[in-house]
Amino acid sequence: MAYRLKKTVVMIGMMGSGKTAIGTALARSLQVPFLDSDAEITRAANLSVAEIFERYGEPFFREKESQVIARLLASRPGILSTGGGAYLDPENRKMIAENGVAVWLRADLALLWNRVKHKDTRPLLRTPDPYGTLKALLDAREPSYAEAALTVDASPEYSIDDMTGKVIETLLTRPDVLETEAA
Ligand code: S3P
Repeated sequence: MAYRLKKTVVMIGMMGSGKTAIGTALARSLQVPFLDSDAEITRAANLSVAEIFERYGEPFFREKESQVIARLLASRPGILSTGGGAYLDPENRKMIAENGVAVWLRADLALLWNRVKHKDTRPLLRTPDPYGTLKALLDAREPSYAEAALTVDASPEYSIDDMTGKVIETLLTRPDVLETEAA
């Protein structure tokens, strides 16, 4: 199937919701560029996300994150995966709504915890009670994520391909975002 993507699709949602994995597969299916804000920030700084938080603090990371998102939204339509905190900033939400379309990968606490518990790469979860921290972040963030134009529910039963197919189905409900093209 050939597709025509008209706006950049911005993957938003919690850490562990699959933004990078699904975003990468989606870009491949739609044959458009894949961009990742965390990857752009770490490449420019030549430091990991955890190192940036340690050395310069979260506000510095957030500032870079907004700059990178603005820059990536200005390039040709593609798939942009953001870090889990990016969509909390009202300015970022506005910029995304004006220049692209947000897709929230909605996943429940159990699924998120299963995906993040073995990894030590996320500075915000380096607390004495990472499960409690993840829960608190999810509770606090859901109202912001719910502002996304589109939502796709994740499930432990879905493979990356299943989930990518669901995102494509959802995008096709919006002809201003994605259309199929006659071969
Ligand atoms: C963060 C999520 C991370 C990364 C940083 C902060 C967050 O990205 O941007 O650790 O605030 O939820 P992922 O959502 O890709 O893990």
